[in-house]
Amino acid sequence: MHEEKVEKILKEALARIKPSKEEIEKETGQVDEIVRRLERIVPRDVEIRVVGSLVHGTNLRGSSDIDVFLLFDKKKGKKEITKEGLNYAKKIIGKGDDYEIKYAEHPYLRAYLYSLGVEADIVPAYKIENIEEMATAVDRSPLHTEFVLSHLSEKEKDEVRLLKFFLKNHSLYGAEVYTGGFSGYLCELLVYQFGSFYSVLKFFAEAKLPIVVEPKSKELNKNIELVKKFGSKFVVVDPVDPDRNVAAPVSMESLARFTLLARSFIAKPSKSLFYGKGFSREEAISGLNAFLRTAGFHVFVMVTKLPKKSEDITWPQLRKTAEIIKEFASTYSYNFELTIPVVFEDKGIMLFVSRELQSKSRIMKGPSVFMKTASDLFLKRHKKAIATFLKDDILFAIEPNRFKSAEELLRFVARGGLRNRRKDVMLKGAKLYVDKVPEDYVDIVYGELRKKFLNL
Ligand code: UTP
Ligand code: MN
Repeated sequence: MHEEKVEKILKEALARIKPSKEEIEKETGQVDEIVRRLERIVPRDVEIRVVGSLVHGTNLRGSSDIDVFLLFDKKKGKKEITKEGLNYAKKIIGKGDDYEIKYAEHPYLRAYLYSLGVEADIVPAYKIENIEEMATAVDRSPLHTEFVLSHLSEKEKDEVRLLKFFLKNHSLYGAEVYTGGFSGYLCELLVYQFGSFYSVLKFFAEAKLPIVVEPKSKELNKNIELVKKFGSKFVVVDPVDPDRNVAAPVSMESLARFTLLARSFIAKPSKSLFYGKGFSREEAISGLNAFLRTAGFHVFVMVTKLPKKSEDITWPQLRKTAEIIKEFASTYSYNFELTIPVVFEDKGIMLFVSRELQSKSRIMKGPSVFMKTASDLFLKRHKKAIATFLKDDILFAIEPNRFKSAEELLRFVARGGLRNRRKDVMLKGAKLYVDKVPEDYVDIVYGELRKKFLNL
């Protein structure tokens, strides 16, 4: 009964996400066209290699990005190959197409080939036979392709698609910093290790930390010293590179959310759990309000402008800025339970969830009485305090609060009162909304809160 239900859900999902024969033919045609264009441009000694999910046979319908590598000889310098590579790549951009230079661990070109109807990443890298020759992080990719093609069966590739889709439905797919999720290659390795989508779930539903997976030998939780080597409690060793933890981008929170989802799905498989529940705007608004009322929480929404740069660059800065604001607020006795940075189009949105709204005073912690010099100094400095008091031997002073409310404090920040070295995040002139979310951001704000509060 249980198995039948799972099977039915997965079969139906696969029919939705697996590209049809025609689609694969179309994609292959597009790849061939891109390769043909590049062949006319690049010199003979530069090898053109298509990698990624399309060649692996693990891509999802409709999300066809094409990953093309230009492989240079190792004799060339890094600067040289990037410059040349990007120049060649630009030449395949036709009339009406567009492109953007992206920066991962090193630069590549994202081509928007509207005339062909596809997006392609053109990545300069080095031609290497084995991992010892690796000079840039992307040099591994062609080796990944070789591994996947020689180790995964057709059935397993479909299982990868299911895993990727499931993760996507729960915003857990992608190794970008702001997702902190599972990369496509990680999904491929997990399916290879455990055999199927459902066995991956079964493993994580029961797993204890640390988790150490070695797909090359299929060892599981054996070489626990790898936890130290990689400084992570979730290790999946790259079979083509023993020094790479493919699970490194997965945040602890993503891993925990995946584990909870796996347990729920195994306990009670359902379509709504597999696909993730969507929500209407009305549900979002009423859900948000109900949450704020019941929890006695308040949400401050600060909206800043961001430059036209990739999220990979702006999101970490926004996160750091939000942390600095949280730190600053806590010194005035406003403690934010949660701070959530969100990049949305050209806006950097910071959500601050708090319980305290007003605080006439702030409490400052001093030294131990038994540190005489420091103690004397503290008492002298806080002579005019509302009160001083002891907790065991530790001195505290209650001072009037410069900011009478959390809102006042955040308004100060939005006037540019707080210094911020994150140069892409302009705090001055930021907009602040208290307990109400502007129309344009309701979906995104509610979506983010729902990621945090599991059953909102
Ligand atoms: P992609 O991010 O395009 O992933 O990386 P993908 O496997 O093709 O999956 P989708 O379907 O597009 O989402 C292309 C290649 O870059 C390497 C892998 O070799 C991958 O196959 N890669 C990318 C990593 O090793 N780690 C990453 O975090 C990202
Ligand atoms: Mn890809």
